[in-house]
Amino acid sequence: MEKRDELYRGKAKTVYYTDDSDKLILHFRNDTSAFDGEKIEQLDRKGEVNNKFNHFIMTKLEEAGIATQVEALVSDTESLVKKLDMIPVECVVRNLSAGSLVRRLGVEEGKELSPPIFEFFLKNDALHDPMVNDYHILSFGWATESQIAQMKALTFKVNSVLKALFDEAGMLLVDYKLEFGVDKDGNIVLGDEFTPDGCRLWDKETRKKMDKDRFRQGLGSVVETYIEVAERLGLSL
Ligand code: C5P
Repeated sequence: MEKRDELYRGKAKTVYYTDDSDKLILHFRNDTSAFDGEKIEQLDRKGEVNNKFNHFIMTKLEEAGIATQVEALVSDTESLVKKLDMIPVECVVRNLSAGSLVRRLGVEEGKELSPPIFEFFLKNDALHDPMVNDYHILSFGWATESQIAQMKALTFKVNSVLKALFDEAGMLLVDYKLEFGVDKDGNIVLGDEFTPDGCRLWDKETRKKMDKDRFRQGLGSVVETYIEVAERLGLSL
């Protein structure tokens, strides 16, 4: 597999074409960003840690029957993935209150949400990723009714697999964001990444924050804590 030109440079990953028109390479960089790119820092080893973490989680999801974009690790910081036509919305599930939900509704942080809350956000940095609902997605043609239903069902299926995985390793999966795309056969496939950059994880006993909130809130030991999460799951980095 040969890496070709850059297709897209995001805030933390760069996507490259390959010599196979159905495959791309995702390069996980050390860049860490928060607040729509207002705070950006280079964190040593983060690209490697997130690349390997993402591969580990996506493999677990594949084993549970969820189709993902990931094909193989190709280097410490790069993965080979299927090319998808990405749907421009973010799917968020919340098991405990935190982050923008707390700010938006004025609820206390750490309240158990039963049932878990599902939210859609439009991927648009300039507009600060506004919250949207099914009607916006349908009216503007970002996805079909069936694709919306599949994204919701798959996001909740991921919740049941990963809540149990993190629970067994002494962590609470507070919330997370997923992105989906459509493959060449028209199937909805999980794309982008699942890493501590895109979810909230708390230690079950102490509620220590073990995710990107350490960076957002200046708590320090960001990559060291991501490595601790990986090690608790049995992945040595
Ligand atoms: O900020 P908010 O509370 O809405 O985030 C919910 C979850 O989605 C968090 O785990 C956060 O890390 C993730 N997220 C993300 N990328 C975004 C927005 C949210 O990974 N652009």
